Amino acid sequence: MSSSLGVAVIGAGMAGKAHAAAYRAATTLYRPVLPEIRLVSIADAYEPLARETAARYGFSRFDTDWRAVAADPEIDIVSVVVANSLHREIVEGLLAAGKHVLCEKPLSDSLEDARAMATAAGAAAERGLIARVGFSYLRAPGIEFIRTLIDDGRLGELLHFSGRYWTDYGCRPDAPISWRYQGPAGSGALGDVGSHLSYLAEYLCGPVAEVSGGRFHTSITERPKPLGQVVGHTRGNVSEERAPVTNDDYATFNASFARCVGTLQVSRVAAGHPNDLTLEVFGSRGAARWSQTNPGQVQVMLHDEQGDVAGYRTVALGPAHPHYVGGWAMDAPGVGIGQNDLFVHQARAFIEEVAGIPTAESLPRCRSFADGVHNIEFLAAVAESAALGGATVPVTAQEH
Ligand SMILES: NC(=O)c1ccc[n+]([C@@H]2O[C@H](COP(=O)([O-])OP(=O)(O)OC[C@H]3O[C@@H](n4cnc5c(N)ncnc54)[C@H](O)[C@@H]3O)[C@@H](O)[C@H]2O)c1
Repeated sequence: MSSSLGVAVIGAGMAGKAHAAAYRAATTLYRPVLPEIRLVSIADAYEPLARETAARYGFSRFDTDWRAVAADPEIDIVSVVVANSLHREIVEGLLAAGKHVLCEKPLSDSLEDARAMATAAGAAAERGLIARVGFSYLRAPGIEFIRTLIDDGRLGELLHFSGRYWTDYGCRPDAPISWRYQGPAGSGALGDVGSHLSYLAEYLCGPVAEVSGGRFHTSITERPKPLGQVVGHTRGNVSEERAPVTNDDYATFNASFARCVGTLQVSRVAAGHPNDLTLEVFGSRGAARWSQTNPGQVQVMLHDEQGDVAGYRTVALGPAHPHYVGGWAMDAPGVGIGQNDLFVHQARAFIEEVAGIPTAESLPRCRSFADGVHNIEFLAAVAESAALGGATVPVTAQEH
C-alpha cells in the first residue's frame, strides 16, 4: 500500500466542494486505515472560488488552470468536477500526465467524447493508472438494501420499475443560463439527473435492452444571462440579455431491462422538488421503494405478511444493512444519511483502489469509464427515441 497519496480537485462548484470535503473525511471511515491523504490543490478557473475552497477544506494551495495540477508530481489522485463538455480535455490531459482520475457523471455530454475517454483510460490502465466515473448514488445504503432484497429473492420476480428524478433548480424563469442549459438534446435534465436514475435502474433491474416513448420538453426556452459567477444552481443578479436554452427541462421514457420493464421521468422544473430521486420496484412477492428525500429509510412490502396489516412498512437503515457499519463517524441507526456522505464513501472506494487495497477488503469499486460510456449510450438511445417521436430504440449490450 502507498504510504501517502496527494489529491487535487478540479472544479470547486457545487459538486467540487463535495469532492473536496469527501477527501478530507474518507480516511476517517471503514477499515483498513487508509494511507495518509495529502490535500494538495483545488483548481477552479474562477480564482476567488478556488482560493476560498482550498482554504475552507484545508488544501495546501489553489490553482486556476488544471494544467498546474497535471504538472505537479506531488499529486496522485484527481477528481474532475467541471461542466460535462470539459471532461474530455481535462481527463485526457491528466491521464497523459500520469494521474489517477475520478471523473464526475455523466462521463461527457457526447458519446464520441466519452468513447475517446474510455480509450484513453484503457491506454492509461496499461501504465497502472485508474480512471473511474462517479456514480455516487450507488453508495446509497437504501439502494444497496433494495438490491439485496432482489438478489435474495424476497421480492420475487421483478414485474415493474418506476423511477423519477425531479428537481426544481430551473423552475423559475429568472434562473440564469449556465452550462447546464446548453448542449445537445438529452444533455439537459436527462444528462444531469437522468444519468443517475438510469444507472440505478440498471443496477436494480439488470441491463437495459431497449427504450421507447422518449419525449423531451424545454419548458423555459430562454434564460437571462448572469451578472456574476454561477455556481451549481445558484441564482443571483441577472442581465436584461437572454440566451436560448438548447436542451431538455423534462424527459420521460420507457425502458425494458433484463428483469422487468419500467418508466423513468426526470425534470428540472418540478417546483417544490429540489432533489427528489424516488424509485420503486414491484415484484411477485413484494415491493420496495426509496427516496433521496428520506435516504435513511427504505419502505418494504412483502406478500407473505398479507392479512389485515398488509402493506408497506418503513425500515430505518442501520447496522443490519449493507456498508452501514463504520460508514459514518456515528454509525448508529437513525443518525441520518445525506447525499454528501455518498461522496465520502465514493472517495474512500477510489482511494482504496489506487492504494492497492484488495477488493475483498474494500468498498465496491467505483465504476469504469466503460460503464460511463454505456450510461451515455443508454441516454443517447432515449434521445434517439425522442427524435423519432417515441420509437423503440435498442441499447447496445455493455461490453466488459
Ligand atoms: N454526483 C452528483 O450528485 C453530482 C451533483 C452535481 C454535479 N455533478 C457533476 O459535477 C460536475 C460539475 O457540476 P457542478 O454542479 O459542480 O458545476 P458548477 O457549475 O457548480 O461548477 C463548475 C466549476 O468549474 C469551474 N470551471 C469552469 N471551467 C473550468 C476549467 N477549465 N478548469 C477548472 N475549473 C473550471 C467553474 O468556475 C465552476 O466553479 C458535472 O459533471 C455534474 O454533472 C454531480
